[in-house]
Order: sequence, then C-alpha cells, then structure tokens
Amino acid sequence: MEHKKSNFNKIEELWEEDLLKRYPENSHKKKQEYRNYDAPARDTVKDFYYLNHVNQTYEFVLEKEKEFLSFDKKEMSLWEAVDFLNTLVDDSDPDIDLDQTQHLLQTSEAIKADGHPDWFVLTGFLHDLGKVLCLFDEPQWAVVGDTFPVGCKFSDKIVYPEFFKENPDNDNEKYNSKYGVYEPNCGLRNVHMSWGHDEYLYHIMKDSLPDEALYIIRYHSFYAQHRENAYEHLMDEYDHKMFKWVQAFNPYDLYSKSPTPPNAEELKPYYQQLATKYLPEKIRF
Ligand SMILES: [Fe+2]
Ligand SMILES: [Fe+2]
Repeated sequence: MEHKKSNFNKIEELWEEDLLKRYPENSHKKKQEYRNYDAPARDTVKDFYYLNHVNQTYEFVLEKEKEFLSFDKKEMSLWEAVDFLNTLVDDSDPDIDLDQTQHLLQTSEAIKADGHPDWFVLTGFLHDLGKVLCLFDEPQWAVVGDTFPVGCKFSDKIVYPEFFKENPDNDNEKYNSKYGVYEPNCGLRNVHMSWGHDEYLYHIMKDSLPDEALYIIRYHSFYAQHRENAYEHLMDEYDHKMFKWVQAFNPYDLYSKSPTPPNAEELKPYYQQLATKYLPEKIRF
C-alpha cells in the first residue's frame, strides 16, 4: 500500500507539472523557466496517459457508474473525508511538496482571499475529494488526469491524442463519429465523461451544492473544453453560462501555491461551519 500511495502522489505531481507546462500561469514566461522533465518522468506521464486513453471506453464508464454511484462504500463527514484522502500522502517521498489537505486549503483560501461567495470557497476546499477512489483501490488512470467525453469521437485537442488509436471505441462506428451516441448541442448533462474523481464527486455533491459549484467539480479536469474549446458541439447555452465558473476556478486549482501554508487546525472551524450550511452531516461515498 505504501508503495502504491507514493506512486499515486508521483503521478499526480507529474500530471500537475504537465498541466503547468501545457498551460503556464503567465503565457509570456519562457518555457524553460518551468521545470523540464527528465526522460523517465516524461515516460511516467506518457505511460499514465496511455493506460487512461486506451481503457476509458463508453462501456467502462457505464460500469464504473454502476459500481460507484450507489454510494455504499463509506460514510464520512467533510473533515473525515479530507483526513481520509490525506492518508494518500507519503512523506518519505522528497518530491512531494504539497499534501492533499494543503492543496485543498490553498485552493480554497485563495478563492476566499479574492472575496468570492462561500459556496465557491467550499467548492475549492472539496473539489478533489473524489480522489478517495484511489483508496478504494481504483487504478490511477481511472481517478486522475484530464477528462473527456466518451461515446463520441475523441478530440485531437486531448493530451496525447495518438493513444486513442488503441481504444476499442475508436474503431466502433457507434462511438467514433463526431456526435457518436449524442445529439448536436444536447448539453453536457447528457454526455458521459471519462471516469475519474471529477465525475464521482459531482454525483456525491449533486443535491447539496449550487449548479455553478457542480460544474466546477464535474469539469475541472476537462481541459479539452475549458482550455481548448474542443467540445462546443455538445454544449448548450446553459453549459456555456456555467463554464465561466469552471474557467474562473481553474487558476486557483493550478496556481495556488502559498509561501506560508495555511494552518489546517486553525481553519477547521470555518470549513466545518460551511459544511454544516451546505452538506449532510455524513457524506456517502
Ligand atoms: Fe482535481
Ligand atoms: Fe485540484
């Protein structure tokens, strides 16, 4: 388990670095200012995306929805879930500079500092809780990484699009046309996304948070849309309206690295009060 945990953090960290390289905070910053991968790290990211792109089929997603959307795995309060997620951390890995709780707190505290409404702050604080999937023994490629629609043609705007050649859906005419199983501009609510922490947490929070928050949670790793605009043909007007929030959230997720880490114990009462306002006492996972 320890090895697995440390490996999980490694993948996550590499994914994040990859995102920062693809989408630097300051586009006029020169590329080389960002840490370059050594070859083995680069390969780890590639291997990760290979597994993700080959295995995320329409059928796989439906299976995972069936398996996890009955929420019979565990019941936890918000803080218990955050603590549980944090057991993913392995301090023995010197490369990991942020544990899960710190990432959540730094994201939410940055949102709070900009004066956003409380539901937005809470969303920042819980946006990655779906990663508990890893603690239910799900493979990393089915938990983290960029997400994308399944059941229709994979966009070449998705990172490492060449790996989709080996995804069985790519050769299935039911799924490989522009719209696949969907109607033009049917609205993303009718579209199945690749399975991962975003989709899982969306379903957990569906009845508790405002729609804007649910869009942030559900689509925060959907870079092919919120950065590349590759799936407008499936979106309706309501999606476009709501996606402004996904875009507003993304910089907080990617670039919130505070030099003085927030103090979790001090901030706990504030977040507990937000949990009381919006969430059931025990959240079902
Ligand atoms: Fe995330
Ligand atoms: Fe995140």
